[in-house]
This record gives sequence, structure tokens and C-alpha cells, in this order.
Amino acid sequence: MSVPMSPRSAIVLAGGLGTRLRPLTDMRPKQMLPIVDRPMIEHVVAKLAREGVDDVVLSLGYRPDAFGVAYPSGRCGGAGLRYATEPDPLGTAGAILFAAHRAAGGNGRAGGGDPFSETFWALNGDVLTDAPFSELLALHRARGAEATILTIPMADASRYGLVESDDTGRVSRFVEKPASGRVTSGWINAGVYVLEPSVLARIRPGRPVSMERETFAAVAADGALYALNSDAYWIDAGTPASYLQANIDLTSGRRAVTLGAVSPRAEVSPGAEVAGSVVMERATVEAGARLDSSVVLPGGRIGAGAVVADSVVGYDAVVGPGARVAGFTLLGDGAAVAAGESLHGGRHQGDPAR
Ligand code: GDD
Ligand code: MG
Repeated sequence: MSVPMSPRSAIVLAGGLGTRLRPLTDMRPKQMLPIVDRPMIEHVVAKLAREGVDDVVLSLGYRPDAFGVAYPSGRCGGAGLRYATEPDPLGTAGAILFAAHRAAGGNGRAGGGDPFSETFWALNGDVLTDAPFSELLALHRARGAEATILTIPMADASRYGLVESDDTGRVSRFVEKPASGRVTSGWINAGVYVLEPSVLARIRPGRPVSMERETFAAVAADGALYALNSDAYWIDAGTPASYLQANIDLTSGRRAVTLGAVSPRAEVSPGAEVAGSVVMERATVEAGARLDSSVVLPGGRIGAGAVVADSVVGYDAVVGPGARVAGFTLLGDGAAVAAGESLHGGRHQGDPAR
């Protein structure tokens, strides 16, 4: 008997508005925000490429052009990229169906054929993980599942999909965004799926359909939805706190790979202190300034003696000398904090037309 190959194709959802990261996402999709040294999407695609994927269809909606501009060659993170841009938001399942149809309808991968007529991966495009996808696939095959999802333990499941499964991995319940208070901890949907093409046949075209609220419920009702519980590193980088954490984790030894926290193309004064923080290319940090659990995006400038804690300094944003920025403040492109000013939280739009 021949051993089935691992899937070579994946659909990655990257069409959301990135609302929770505004104003950083005012000018670009969330997946184009950098995590340490490259856009979020590149980390996601590189993980897939390491798992044997060479054909990634990006499902896009909001500001889709950013990807073509960043990857004009159609290659990213070691895989080929294709784009499927929805005319209107179709929900997570609708977006996957639309992308699969688009990919089947021409400009196919080398060798031709419809890559989504066999087992394929689907991912949320804001998920960074070191989980072994091969184990997810192995469980999927062993159970003859129609869909298998990666699940991660979470203390507060309220902003995720809560998944209940038995000892064999069979899912009995999937509750998207359970009301907080009622549910506290549990295994949550990590946004990494192995799907059979038959899942696509369950998605009614032409109207928004949610994978989490509709399609998975139907597959589970047929006893064909499975989950692999994993305690590997995982983060959804889509909120201010988790975007910061995703950057910090990749530079502090919590990941399979560790990257430098300060870009070789940044300028940090020897008299500045950078603690548990990431400083990206073209950024400058002057003497006496202190960064604590923060991220300075490309071109950001931190003036002498300023203190930035638990905050994101946006592209070319300026924190004046002696200013204090803390409490999950987000500074948009070109935003300016005056010398000596103090900010605690909030979203501060800059001047995108600067
Ligand atoms: N193409 C397309 N169209 N993509 C979309 C759309 C859409 O209408 N809406 C969202 N996306 C993309 C986002 O860009 C993101 O990459 C992914 O789909 C998931 O959307 P989020 O908005 O980040 O969802 P979430 O984080 O609240 O919840 C989801 O992820 C959790 C894990 O991170 C759900 O799948 C939860 O069940 C899950 O626990
Ligand atoms: Mg998310």
C-alpha cells in the first residue's frame, strides 16, 4: 500500500480588517505587520513550507495589494504564493471555498490539476506556532477524519473557539467565542486545519459562512471532526498584547528558533536600555531611553530619556525626549509623542500622509 503524501497545498486566511491592531493596520493588512525581521505572513508560510507545502493560496479581502507589492515574484517563505481576493467578506468557510475554487480555475501549480481535490491545509494567517503539523496529519489519517484541528490549552477561552474532544480525538462540541464567565479554561481552536475536499462540499456558496460556527458543527455532528491536543508554542498575534508577545517570544528563547532583538540596521545608543523588547530596522533609540516589553517598528524614534513599556511604536513614529508611553499604547505610522508627554494606553493615529 502506498503511503499518502503530506499535502502540498494550503489556504491561508489573511483577509481580515485587523481591527484590534488599529491604527497599525490602517495602512496595511495585519499579516504584513512585521514580527521581528519579516512580515507575519512570511513566518506563517515558512512554517507550512517546512511541513512540505509548496503552494499557498492567500485568501484576501482588506488591502490585498500589499501582498503582491511585497512578493512580486510570487514566492514567500519558501513556497509559491497565489492570491484569491474576495469581492465581499465571505466568512472563514466561504473564504476557504472561494480560494479553493479560484485556485482550481487556472494558473494552477506545476503539474496541473486541482490541488484542493485532495487533502489540504487551511490556516488562520495570524497564527505562529512550533506545533508538529505532521502529528496533526497522522491523527487525521489514522481516524479517517474529514477535518482535524489543532487545539491548544488556554486559561481564558473566551476570545477563541472552545473545542471538546474525547480520548480518540473525536470532537463532540465546538463553541466559538464562548461567553466569558461561563467558560474559563479548555482546549481552544488553534486555527490550523487538515481538511478533506468533502468539507468544501458542505459550504454553501454565495453567502458568508463561518467555519467555526457552521461548518465544523456539521462535521462534528457526523462524527468526522477530530482534534489534536498540543502544548507546543502557539500564539495568535492579532491583539496588541499578543502582537507584542509574538515579537518578544521570537527573540527570547521561547521558540524553536531565536532571532536577534535589535536589527543590525537599527541604531541603539550604548546609553539606552532595551529589555525584553524588539527594535526593527531604521529605528533609533537615544541615550538614557528605556524600552521594556515593547516593539519599535521600522523607522521609529525614541528620544533621550524616554520610557516605553508594553507598547508598540509604529512606523516612523516619534517618542519625544523624556516622554513616557505605557499600558499597551499603539502609536500609528508617523505618530508623535511630545517631549515629556505621558501616555497610558490608547490608539494614537499618526499622519499616514506624512
Ligand atoms: N479572507 C478572509 N475573509 N479572511 C478573513 C476574514 C474574511 O472575511 N475574516 C477574518 N479573516 C482572516 C484574518 O485575517 C485572520 O488571519 C483569520 O482569518 C482569523 O480571523 P481573526 O479575526 O484573527 O479570528 P479570531 O482570532 O478572532 O478567531 C479565530 O482564530 C482563533 C485562533 O487564533 C477563530 O478561528 C477561533 O476559533 C480561533 O480560536
Ligand atoms: Mg486571530
